[in-house]
Amino acid sequence: MRDLFDKIYEDKGPLGKWADQAEGYFVFPKLEGPISNRMKFQGREVVTWSINDYLGLANMEEVRKVDAEAAAAYGSAYPMGARMMSGHTDLHEQLQNELAEFVHKEAAYLLNFGYQGMVSTIDALVSKDDIIVYDVDAHACIIDGVRLHQGQRYTYRHNDIESIEKNLMRATRMAQKTGGGILLISEGVFGMRGEQGRLKEIVALKEKYNFRLFVDDAHGFGTLGATGAGAGEEQGVQGEIDVYFATFAKSMASTGAFIAADQEIIDYLKYNLRSQMFAKSLQMQLVVGALKRLDMLRTMPELKAKLWENVNALQNGLRDRGFDLGTTQSCVTPVYLKGSIPEAMALVKDLRENHGIFCSIVVYPVIPKGLILLRLIPTASHTMQDIEETLNAFSAIRETLENGTYKRMSAALAEAMGE
Ligand SMILES: Cc1ncc(COP(=O)(O)O)c(C=O)c1O
Repeated sequence: MRDLFDKIYEDKGPLGKWADQAEGYFVFPKLEGPISNRMKFQGREVVTWSINDYLGLANMEEVRKVDAEAAAAYGSAYPMGARMMSGHTDLHEQLQNELAEFVHKEAAYLLNFGYQGMVSTIDALVSKDDIIVYDVDAHACIIDGVRLHQGQRYTYRHNDIESIEKNLMRATRMAQKTGGGILLISEGVFGMRGEQGRLKEIVALKEKYNFRLFVDDAHGFGTLGATGAGAGEEQGVQGEIDVYFATFAKSMASTGAFIAADQEIIDYLKYNLRSQMFAKSLQMQLVVGALKRLDMLRTMPELKAKLWENVNALQNGLRDRGFDLGTTQSCVTPVYLKGSIPEAMALVKDLRENHGIFCSIVVYPVIPKGLILLRLIPTASHTMQDIEETLNAFSAIRETLENGTYKRMSAALAEAMGE
């Protein structure tokens, strides 16, 4: 009989197998210093384009002051226990009420982590007779939530309305047999490529099909819509989103998350979300910190304006220089280049070490073979100088890529990798 760990000794998994070449540099890099537009990587200052601190709140003095005061007042333990048992407070309630109002919903409920919260919201919303219809490129937390579902599920082609409608038809036929209902899950903004979920067109399908819409708006909350209420507000359909989710991990620059919906739905979820019923409540310092951040989202529209000034300067600058940004409709700024994985590695090293630019890199199998995706996240704390330096660096690395230098530099690695 095999030992359980044998397979681990033999195969480290699709990403783990690159650990020797990648760890500490391409994966698990250590960015040091206060979270900002410029941080230190391996002792060198780099312009950071890989942090979702969209509104630049993470290192603002008044935010850090509130965080520090809350930590001093409450420590990191309070409140102890799950919300239902002993972890409920007036401030948790206040934050929920303020979040609900901010995203134009009747009620909200806090989640101690976005990922688990999404998983168990999906779990709580469906029973085995129900059908889930969701985007093939959905975030891992949606996929994991769907994995718990014991009934039918259908994926549709990424953000493709024809495919959505086809799958709603299939789901409707199936639901008529099982006697269940339909839950359609989309993201407000797809975090890798930056497209907005086609919420307006999905909502229009409600006239023909009976389904409920659940939107994960991790990247839209605080960045899109007239008041920052997200992708639904941006597309004029916030009212038709039946369950709205956002995390504090991006524009709120913190930890935690929430769902918002009609009062009756939130009342149901708070008694049925296993990830909250059987886990510790969101810490008080995070609740107090989130109240402060939400107040800034409400009262400082200039932060979102500055973010978009930077997004437009970066995206227009890249497009003017002929870079392919795909179909982004948000702050997420993907730059697509052609090259192998070893070339991508040489290119990123050049970007970091010779140009002082730090961004994330995505390669096969996340995107098709032969493509390199450099993903930039502009924030309100970036400056025009950061953008100018980055545009110049991108022009330089494209030239080096196209004249074959990275290919030559990475020939030995390519051979070792069988590329
Ligand atoms: C689309 C999306 N949903 C959910 C999450 C998970 O949120 P959290 O980091 O709060 O667990 C993330 C990542 O933060 C995300 O990008």
